[in-house]
Amino acid sequence: MEHFFESIEGWFTFPRLYTMLVQQTPAGGTFVEVGSWKGQSLAFLTVEAIRQRRDFRIVAVDTWQGSSEHASVDSIRQGTLFEEFTANLSPVADRFTALRLPSLEAAATFADGSLDAVFIDAAHEFAAVAADLEAWYPKVKRGGWFCGHDYSSAWPGVVRAVDRFFTRRSGELLSRGDEFCWVSRRA
Ligand SMILES: C[S@@+](CC[C@H](N)C(=O)[O-])C[C@H]1O[C@@H](n2cnc3c(N)ncnc32)[C@H](O)[C@@H]1O
Repeated sequence: MEHFFESIEGWFTFPRLYTMLVQQTPAGGTFVEVGSWKGQSLAFLTVEAIRQRRDFRIVAVDTWQGSSEHASVDSIRQGTLFEEFTANLSPVADRFTALRLPSLEAAATFADGSLDAVFIDAAHEFAAVAADLEAWYPKVKRGGWFCGHDYSSAWPGVVRAVDRFFTRRSGELLSRGDEFCWVSRRA
């Protein structure tokens, strides 16, 4: 199957990271993307999993109500974001599950230590990112991947929350800023 993510609007800057995570996620495992918007990064992830013949579960978590910075975007004002997401992802609809919940409520539906990869790309404010980190980290297995987007000077709240969270776990943080992402692996 050919990649089609470029036909979808979004902020997907991390093809190398997602390609690596697809290679690393075991058969029968679970990969959660928190923050999918219109599905650009999710389209890459699902198609890459199909292309690499990797048989793991993919869950997309989002309210599909947008983040604070999206209030003036047409899809939010008109309430069409989830419909657009669903239409965009229709070629791979059987390859993922959409969990339409706030991030923290969604995290609570997973058992601790049950996830192989979690990628955070939801809210960007310090307090929200800090809460996401605290909520999702325990859900990742030992040896599993815990990563996220927008580690960049454009989003100081993300940088501050990630730096603070990993001061206690500095050995687990593998990179910061490459493809605008932070990457960690649970010890
Ligand atoms: C930057 S966009 C995601 C971009 C997407 N990964 C892409 O490739 O284009 C952030 C998304 O996070 C969602 N979001 C923000 N805060 C959230 C929260 N607390 N719970 C669930 N979703 C949230 C928004 O609805 C929005 O769709």
